[in-house]
Amino acid sequence: MSSVTVRVPAKVNVQLSVGPLREDGYHDLVNVFHAVSIFDEVVAKEAEGITVQVNGKWSDQVPIDDSNLAIRAARALAKHAGRSYGAELIIHKNIPVAGGMAGGSADAAGALVACNELWGLGLPMDDLMEIAGDLGSDVPFSLIGGTAVGTGRGEQLSELPTGGTFHWVFALANGGLSTAKVYAECDRLRAESNAEVPWPTLNDSLMEALGTGDAYALGAHLSNDLQPAALNLRPELGPTLDSGRQHGALGAIVSGSGPTCAFLAIDATHARDLAESLTATGAAHTAVAAHGPVQGATVI
Ligand code: C5P
Repeated sequence: MSSVTVRVPAKVNVQLSVGPLREDGYHDLVNVFHAVSIFDEVVAKEAEGITVQVNGKWSDQVPIDDSNLAIRAARALAKHAGRSYGAELIIHKNIPVAGGMAGGSADAAGALVACNELWGLGLPMDDLMEIAGDLGSDVPFSLIGGTAVGTGRGEQLSELPTGGTFHWVFALANGGLSTAKVYAECDRLRAESNAEVPWPTLNDSLMEALGTGDAYALGAHLSNDLQPAALNLRPELGPTLDSGRQHGALGAIVSGSGPTCAFLAIDATHARDLAESLTATGAAHTAVAAHGPVQGATVI
């Protein structure tokens, strides 16, 4: 095989509960991931060394040096296999960069699946999941997609059944936010308020809403502990969230560490209308309608 193409989705967190800061600098989470239909494509072609090029939206914001997560994924896979394989990786970007939608993690997951195929390794999902967890907390979820709860750093996953398709609108912001900075701001705000940080637990009402496919109930139970920190760093997101609620969103939330804002719509038509309203009123410069859950990294 001389070329493999993998399609890999973005995510939104429908519950992101952040526990106390751990000694290793991470936080224990209850992180309910939901994969949505905004996709990057990762192509892996036979080559000597491992290189990456990025095209499509925001490609100029993605590093193509050794810090690129897709390169690191391909290297980690080659190391795991014990051989010095090569691949030219070509990423077609659609997922916002540093937007709180796991764009970098998606590309890493895409590279793992593409190179596993290109190099004929045939490694099982369990092996890929282990390598993925070392690359980043969100990479394992990008492999499996669907809807899943992540504990630990977010890398220990259990799949969750959902009772239907949910329709979303994503308001893309100008520029990204560093995940590490948003967590640090969350810690700072917590220290300032002196409040006890509870151990994170799964919201049963949210589980029920996902299981029954009830968008109204899901909208009412969306939660994100990183939202106050993201809003502190990017105050202009507050009016964006308000505008979505005014246009009938069932729930409005910062996606992960932001700055993308996620709005749950009633159905596909409402999602299209909501996206139009958000851009027409200037509340968002770009708004994209999408649905979830969708499957994780897939060879196409
Ligand atoms: O795992 P990943 O590299 O994606 O994490 C990026 C940063 O986000 C970490 O360096 C850490 O600051 C923060 N983080 C955290 N707790 C988690 C996941 C990420 O504090 N569970």
